[in-house]
Amino acid sequence: MRNNLVVATMTAPVATVLAAALLLFLASPASAKLSTAYYQKTCPNAEQIISDVVTSKQISTPTTAAGTLRLFFHDCFVGGCDASMLISTNAFNRAERDADDNISLPGDAFDTVIRSKTALELQCPGVVSCADILALATRNLVLMLGGPFYTVRLGRKDALASFAATVPGNLPRTNMTVDQLIEVFAEKKMTVQDMVALSGAHTVGFSHCSEFASRIFGYKGNGGHDPTMNTQYAEALQKACANYLKDETIAAFNDVMTPGKFDNMYYKNVLRGLGLLASDSALAVDKRTRPLVERYAANQTAFYIDFTHAMEKLSVVGVKTGRKGEIHDFFFSLEWDALDDLLQQVERRQYQRLSVWQVSATQVGKVNGHVKVLPVIGHMKVLPATGHVKVLPGTVHVRVLPTTGHEKVLLVTAHEKVLTATSHVKVLPEGRA
Ligand code: HEM
Repeated sequence: MRNNLVVATMTAPVATVLAAALLLFLASPASAKLSTAYYQKTCPNAEQIISDVVTSKQISTPTTAAGTLRLFFHDCFVGGCDASMLISTNAFNRAERDADDNISLPGDAFDTVIRSKTALELQCPGVVSCADILALATRNLVLMLGGPFYTVRLGRKDALASFAATVPGNLPRTNMTVDQLIEVFAEKKMTVQDMVALSGAHTVGFSHCSEFASRIFGYKGNGGHDPTMNTQYAEALQKACANYLKDETIAAFNDVMTPGKFDNMYYKNVLRGLGLLASDSALAVDKRTRPLVERYAANQTAFYIDFTHAMEKLSVVGVKTGRKGEIHDFFFSLEWDALDDLLQQVERRQYQRLSVWQVSATQVGKVNGHVKVLPVIGHMKVLPATGHVKVLPGTVHVRVLPTTGHEKVLLVTAHEKVLTATSHVKVLPEGRA
């Protein structure tokens, strides 16, 4: 009895400490589990591979950087930085990327992640998440435009699903009041300072005329432009956008002075009536935001410091770690020309399974011989057989799963527009593989 008591009194503090440790562990946010060395052992060249891909992509298509930065922002603000924007819509579900607020995101932004993922899969299949790729690619692209460097901790998992219905209310809109903008950011634990600093991202990129048309054509029924806008600027925009109802692709630089440079010109612009979007100009008026706009306009270093801090915060919004997510494998679309390359890679790297699926009914692959392609959620499944899968030209979606050992390798060659399966094709379970 006495011994038991001693044991009891000795274990109580230990139990308390253990319980506290457990509580701490459970309470620690997912972002605390991220680290800069996350892929050091599993994919040591990951950052270099992403950097190489992103650099050449930006050089060949200079609109990439701004598009990717916006894609990252939209991904993080809806359900966290989890690459849910990379998941395609299918016959059963409209994905985030096809929500109204995301329609104008340029294909090149998605392509940044797709290309990086392709390159990474060759070196370290199934290791690096698309969410981490997007976070790193964004950082590198901001740097390429002359912006500040900031640290990106890694280990994000990718979303398991993506729903367009989750978008409304989570992203800011140009016609929101400053109160509403502050609220949207506050919901993601972003302060007014974070919001104003992040808005400095509008120092690069474009906006389509429809986003600011109400400011330049018949503003509030006055027949002219928003009087807070610089007149010459408004008139130039009226000219540029004259045809915007017929041609929806017409767009203007967000920063009319130094459009391709990640500098503090955006803040100088909004103070001079050269803000493009109503939400930009509003920041120069509200008494909570104007002092920050003035501060960043006068001091680029102050902008860089606060932007860096805010991007580090943005990069960990709602991140998923452990079993809350997955690593997307080849979960994206490829242009037809790229398919042949991919299939050869598949052969070389001995991937065991490959499913080809199409999202839109018009592109559904025609079935010939023994291979049957059926639509299932997210992809189409390939039934075991040898034969031909004829896929119509256009964008084809390919999902590749790495070899686990004993199963036969699927040898596929792209010949004209016919994919020939020359070996056993494994059945993919319904829904997810
Ligand atoms: C404060 C509220 C914000 C509003 C209302 C807003 C709204 C918009 C709109 C309407 C466009 C034009 C899209 C188009 O026509 O294609 C745009 C572009 C852009 N936004 Fe924002 N945005 C906000 C904040 C942010 C933040 C926080 C970031 C990044 C951290 C960001 C990054 C960008 C970039 C880089 C572009 C140019 C995209 C391109 O050239 O493809 N925005 N934004």
